[in-house]
Amino acid sequence: MIALSRSEPVDDSDKHPTLVAQDRPPAVEVLSADKVFANGARGLSPIDLTIADGEFLTLIGPSGCGKSTLLKLIANLIEPSDGRLLWWRGDFSRVGQAGRRFAFVFQEPTLMPWARVDANVRLPLELANTTKAKAAEAVTEAIDRVGLSAFASHYPRQLSGGMKMRVSIARALATHPNLLLMDEPFGALDEFTRNRLDSDLVRLWWERKLTTVFVTHSIYEAVFLSTRIVVMASNPGRIFRAMTIDEPQPRDESFRDSPRFAAYCRELSSWLAEASLPGAVT
Ligand SMILES: Nc1ncnc2c1ncn2[C@@H]1O[C@H](COP(=O)(O)OP(=O)(O)OP(=O)(O)O)[C@@H](O)[C@H]1O
Ligand SMILES: [Mg+2]
Repeated sequence: MIALSRSEPVDDSDKHPTLVAQDRPPAVEVLSADKVFANGARGLSPIDLTIADGEFLTLIGPSGCGKSTLLKLIANLIEPSDGRLLWWRGDFSRVGQAGRRFAFVFQEPTLMPWARVDANVRLPLELANTTKAKAAEAVTEAIDRVGLSAFASHYPRQLSGGMKMRVSIARALATHPNLLLMDEPFGALDEFTRNRLDSDLVRLWWERKLTTVFVTHSIYEAVFLSTRIVVMASNPGRIFRAMTIDEPQPRDESFRDSPRFAAYCRELSSWLAEASLPGAVT
């Protein structure tokens, strides 16, 4: 299990970060951004979306509706064909400055098989020319945070799928991101492991005051994790509807057993069914 270090102070006020985020600039604004690929395929029709500072926003929708494309736009891995995006109210050059760092976690752990766990986690710090001493400290802290201290010298092949995913998360955390982008990070894991990682992620998000954009196909995962869920539809890829999950934070397992959780899941399930119908109207 991921043993999250409790060394950082936990904000025990009952105020959710999104409630206090109004006075801070949004992390990302997607302004009528669309995407037509080189082969003429339309990945996304124009999207308008504001990601508030401190939100846990989840994108969900049928396969091919453009979730990964939207996440890549947000990560500036691809450019919009039309429209634009703002990061902390400015262009992409703002990313990387203090308080404006981000990290991407892909569906596959994408670890270097020939390198030990600690070397994998150190990679982004080396790329950023972090000093050796600072990098060593950040790597140790990140590995500890995901509960893998005993495995720092192991190779990826010596780890289970869930452990590899934790290494991947540690690698993202080592850079101390403010914005965490995750594309179906737990999709390949069994439900039990996924639930455990979800609980740890929610606590981490809360403790670190992260802004997170998360992609999943799981209704339960979306409801458990998110402060807001954006349901997308395809042909063309677009935003169908958004649902706010206004529940106390940080959430724990008891939320999963609550009637409110079941009600959110039922509603989200029916929205997804609607969004999956051909010609679904927003
Ligand atoms: N590089 C590309 N070139 C051409 N078409 C693309 C490219 N990338 C994605 N597409 C198309 O854009 C649409 C959206 O793709 P995307 O990968 O964003 O969907 P998704 O919602 O992430 O799907 P999934 O749930 O299966 O991961 C799809 O029709 C896909 O075929
Ligand atoms: Mg995808």
